[in-house]
Amino acid sequence: MSRRKQIYEGKAKILYEGPEPGTLVQYFKDDATAFNAQKKAVLDGKGVLNNRISEFVMMRLAEIGIPTHFIKRLNMREQLIKKVEIIPLEVICRNVAAGTMAKRLGMEEGTKLPRSVVEFCLKRDDLGDPLISEDHIHTFGWATPGELDEMIAMTLRINDYLQGMFGGIGIKLIDFKIEFGRLDVQMDNGVTAHQVILADEISPDSCRLWDRETDRKLDKDRFRRDLGEVTEAYTEVATRLGILKEANNKSAPKLSVVSNDD
Ligand code: TYD
Repeated sequence: MSRRKQIYEGKAKILYEGPEPGTLVQYFKDDATAFNAQKKAVLDGKGVLNNRISEFVMMRLAEIGIPTHFIKRLNMREQLIKKVEIIPLEVICRNVAAGTMAKRLGMEEGTKLPRSVVEFCLKRDDLGDPLISEDHIHTFGWATPGELDEMIAMTLRINDYLQGMFGGIGIKLIDFKIEFGRLDVQMDNGVTAHQVILADEISPDSCRLWDRETDRKLDKDRFRRDLGEVTEAYTEVATRLGILKEANNKSAPKLSVVSNDD
């Protein structure tokens, strides 16, 4: 592992050069950060859980026709992914007011929105990922109008699917953040085109997930707000998704991985 060339280190993941051109290895760390990395901790087993949960979600989304960077899981903490040029936007989709939206608009957390809302933030840690408009994106060329349309359409489809998927296991999808990348695709006529595909991860680090009956938070807000039992909540999500065996709920994730081949 240490012989591989490190391409990038983020707050919760490391990217290494992949075994073949056009591939990368995405390694999930146990590190947790919040409030633009002002709050930090190491949460034992978080990386393993997010690797599994993100794999599961990306595979389900691929099944409904969403192109993703995920190729295959390599081991407990690593997955093989397609190398893309990351579009410098965080695309946020919200069904219920929470977090910065609740604060910004003076809404009570938990208020159901009249319809799903898509927001964009510029990926700039030094500026605290500011909220931007579609017009900013066009004006500054962060994505083309065509790319933006594709990202919005995919985000709404992903939201629909994930609301149903989590709804089926008694979890409300309050909001989530996704990122997209540009993949070089060789056309029949030899011309190289860009395809927009889903990248990064989808996990309790990047979603708000509340238990349907109790509104118990099963996501990173447990860390942000010092609610405790963070990995226990992530384990609960993985267990309900059927990724971890029920019996091993307490000791997961170490020995309780269900085979992927079924
Ligand atoms: P938001 O309420 O805008 O921000 P915060 O998490 O700081 O309260 O977040 C909306 C959703 O997007 C939430 O599920 C967390 C996720 N998110 C990220 O994963 N990373 C980010 O950088 C941002 C801004 C949001």
